[in-house]
Amino acid sequence: MNPWPGWHPLVVHFPLALVLTAVPLLLAARLLRSDALASTAAVVGTWNLCLGTVAAVFALATGLGAVLDLRVGETARQAISLHMKWAMFTSLVLVLLAVWRGAGTAPRSRPSWIFIIVLLMAAAALVVTGYRGGENVYEFGVGVKKIAVRAEPHGDRPSMRVAYCPGSSPVKYAIT
Ligand code: HEM
Repeated sequence: MNPWPGWHPLVVHFPLALVLTAVPLLLAARLLRSDALASTAAVVGTWNLCLGTVAAVFALATGLGAVLDLRVGETARQAISLHMKWAMFTSLVLVLLAVWRGAGTAPRSRPSWIFIIVLLMAAAALVVTGYRGGENVYEFGVGVKKIAVRAEPHGDRPSMRVAYCPGSSPVKYAIT
């Protein structure tokens, strides 16, 4: 049984927002000429990265919880599996980066270029993870209880409508 039902969509915003904020801050810490500004950006960026990584671990846990008692078709299952692989890979790289930055160097120091490059790759992987997660919901309807049907008039026959539902073919029906 899922110990945190419905928590995954809430939790996932934290790693996305915190890590994607850490990227420009740590990049600024590398590029800024002023040592004072660079050191402030480095400290704030390091905190964002570390908190974002903790949040990614929570997202991982709530995501795994969300699939515990889930029954879905083959296509949705493959989409969830791809999302999960991206999530695990991304979280692992984020943990390594957070330890590297948070424990391996002084938070005020300018990050190295190699660190920035790995961070950019991790951020890109996080965006892919989030995009794939959104696809689970908006393309395959995973976790959705009620579907809003978008109905449009059907071309040359005004008495007909076409209903578009995610994950299935458009349905034509007559209005009376
Ligand atoms: C870094 C970790 C993760 C991130 C950032 C993430 C991100 C997302 C996002 C953005 C959504 C769409 C939420 C919405 O719009 O309602 C989503 C949905 C989903 N994710 Fe993840 N995810 C992560 C880990 C996982 C893991 C490890 C699994 C396990 C298979 C998983 C399974 C799901 C499922 C089943 C959905 C569909 C909606 C739901 O049941 O909550 N996610 N994810």
